[in-house]
Amino acid sequence: MSRQQEIKKLIDLRAEARLGGGLKRLEKQHSKGKYTARERIEMILDEGSFEEFDMFVKHRCRDFGLEKEQYLGDGVITGHGTIDGRVVYIFSQDFTVFGGSLSETYAKKICKVMDQALLVGAPIIGINDSGGARIQEGVMSLAGYADIFQRNIMASGVVPQISAIFGPCAGGAVYSPALTDVVIMSDKTSYMFVTGPKVAKTVTGEDITTEDLGGATVHATKSGVAHFRADDEDEGIMLIRKSLEYLPQNNLEEPIQTECTDPIDRINDELNDIIPENPNAPYDVKDIIYTIVDDEEFLEYHRHYAKNIVVGFSKFNGMPVGIVANQPNYLAGVLDINASKKAARFVRLCDAFNVPILTLVDVPGFLPGSNQEYGGIIIHGAKLLFAYGEATVPKVTITLRKSYGGAHDVMSSKQLRSDINYAWPSAEIAVMGAQGAVEILEGRKVRSIENDEEREKFVQEKEDEYKEKFANPYVAAQHGFIDDVIEPRNTRFRIIRAFRTLSTKKQTNPPKKHSNIPL
Ligand code: HXC
Repeated sequence: MSRQQEIKKLIDLRAEARLGGGLKRLEKQHSKGKYTARERIEMILDEGSFEEFDMFVKHRCRDFGLEKEQYLGDGVITGHGTIDGRVVYIFSQDFTVFGGSLSETYAKKICKVMDQALLVGAPIIGINDSGGARIQEGVMSLAGYADIFQRNIMASGVVPQISAIFGPCAGGAVYSPALTDVVIMSDKTSYMFVTGPKVAKTVTGEDITTEDLGGATVHATKSGVAHFRADDEDEGIMLIRKSLEYLPQNNLEEPIQTECTDPIDRINDELNDIIPENPNAPYDVKDIIYTIVDDEEFLEYHRHYAKNIVVGFSKFNGMPVGIVANQPNYLAGVLDINASKKAARFVRLCDAFNVPILTLVDVPGFLPGSNQEYGGIIIHGAKLLFAYGEATVPKVTITLRKSYGGAHDVMSSKQLRSDINYAWPSAEIAVMGAQGAVEILEGRKVRSIENDEEREKFVQEKEDEYKEKFANPYVAAQHGFIDDVIEPRNTRFRIIRAFRTLSTKKQTNPPKKHSNIPL
């Protein structure tokens, strides 16, 4: 073969590989409103930055006639490229080849990019669109999945791992995304479940559609498996790129600081009036977040799940910061099982990747009742407590209004090693609210007063006395648990100054194999 023929062969083979499972199947993919595996990579990465690995890999299965059906690349496209100039590794499952199902060689391709991502300390992006284990390969395929899981586990907390689900993701295959830091699902075109509707029908008799069992809405609202439900793949791709903007390349690096054009000394007078006079009236804590962060930008995780707590990333003076905030607009911002799990996972994500944490507190306590107790609120609430107490990144806490009972301790209190704790003058830091306290402390006396008017007067006096004494920030400030009571309108620059001061913070936990967080 002449040199020119050799080069032509290479070009032909590349063209063949790029066709995946063939034109017909590529068209079918488009007809379902989905991009192809290669189109997704092109859109995710910086233009022209993709370097592909293992384009010529073929499967080794010799059963069920599969030896006659070969596709270059074997159903998954792998390699590396850049996002905003920073290196990332990527794999993208190609549904046009055997339904994107995973074979032994396919798994090896994914493992190769994961191994190299760990070697160089770069994020891993996985695009899932697959019918699961390649049935013809049996246990070889199952082993391949386990090889990937093991790498997901080793990479956890070392390099960011982002999963997008843009098609089927079923059976044990769901556990690879579940082990990663960010899960994005495209609405109506993706689903995830351990067992599908048919198995559910056979085993439990339940009649349920694919969408209702494992669609994006279900996982973004009910299960919490998905951090983001994207309207379509375009939004999903934008979210992949956006989520990496707030994370460093790996756990040994700091997040990237970008230029900030939003004035750092911006005063926001409207914040002085944002807390309603009525202590039980709701308000939207996101109004406060959007006001204080750079350029009103907030990437909210789990927006539709456990809405009584808000978590996500913003920047202050161009520096990424993770925000955790109770949401008085939903269930009064109470801490329950799902809110505790959601926030705990987010705090650990920030801590693993050196992102400072800002906590905005307005919490009436933990949600009471048998539902929560039977569901294990003790163990789940402990997760959040543990996550805050273990975190060594800079932590700034601002108490906006209520900070009651155990929830006060949990929400990044001074004693859980929060570095700087401020309170607004509207803060109420106490064991419980005035009404509850008077009911317990003065109950017998209240019941003994027969005259309605006198009784009401007595209760009011006692509540006022309690509020004066405890339901304010000054008792905590007297003890140094609150470092300063600040005017709400100055919040932005006080936060920026606090994080700037803390930027050289170094704190380590005692050496151990690993902690035993209450799972
Ligand atoms: C081999 C598969 C396949 C699989 C699909 N195909 N799934 N080939 N192994 N798991 C092939 C089909 O034969 C077909 O080939 C092509 O992919 C497209 O599939 P269709 O069924 O035509 O597509 P669609 O109607 O869109 O349905 C997609 C699907 C369905 C819902 C994913 O294919 C399906 O149910 N597949 C099986 C899913 C499954 O049970 N997987 C195992 C799960 S258990 P042609 O040649 O016609 O294009 C598991 C264990 C993991 O994954 C363990 C980890 C620990």
